[in-house]
Amino acid sequence: MAFGLLCVLQVALNVYLRINCMEDNIQHNVTGHKQLLQTNDSILEKEIELLKASNNILTKERDQLLRAKGNSCPEKWMSFGSSCYYKSSIKATWSDSRQDCRERGADLIIINTKEEQDFVRNLHTRAWIGLDWKWVDETPLINGFWKYGEPNENNDAENCVEVDGHASNSEWNDIPCDFLWYWICEKPINPELLKHQA
Ligand code: BGC
Ligand code: CA
Repeated sequence: MAFGLLCVLQVALNVYLRINCMEDNIQHNVTGHKQLLQTNDSILEKEIELLKASNNILTKERDQLLRAKGNSCPEKWMSFGSSCYYKSSIKATWSDSRQDCRERGADLIIINTKEEQDFVRNLHTRAWIGLDWKWVDETPLINGFWKYGEPNENNDAENCVEVDGHASNSEWNDIPCDFLWYWICEKPINPELLKHQA
């Protein structure tokens, strides 16, 4: 009887020791994994820092190259100031011209300064500009480079504006929007570059 009891106690002790040992092992493993994860975390944080630093360097190098290249406009576009300009080789109505510019990631030209007006003059073309009493970016027209006597809204039928690069002074005239005319598109030089300079 006493021997039997001893055996039962022995078995109970064995089970207890085994469970204890397993718990220790589990605890040990968990601690090990936690340390491993913490180490991984700090390695990843360092890698992120390094990637950020190299991204900064690459961005600066790219911007320097773009600046060195000078003309950052797409092929067939001209560069002037901080914009790129495209002169069409075919004629269309004012709204079809505008649509074409928008499909090229641009809009009809907005002439803000005398310098820009002079640049357009040197294109020696008659072409639509982005003005139908307000500019295509919704800004109101403040100063214009109108031809003498214009805008005259001839027969109340002239709501779009051309620049006449063949006139001696190459200035503006209002004409009917459904005239078929050449057009000039404008978009900022490499918007990416401007974004990074901002
Ligand atoms: C007039 C302009 C007008 C144009 C229309 C010219 O003779 O001077 O004001 O826009 O005709 O064709
Ligand atoms: Ca007119």
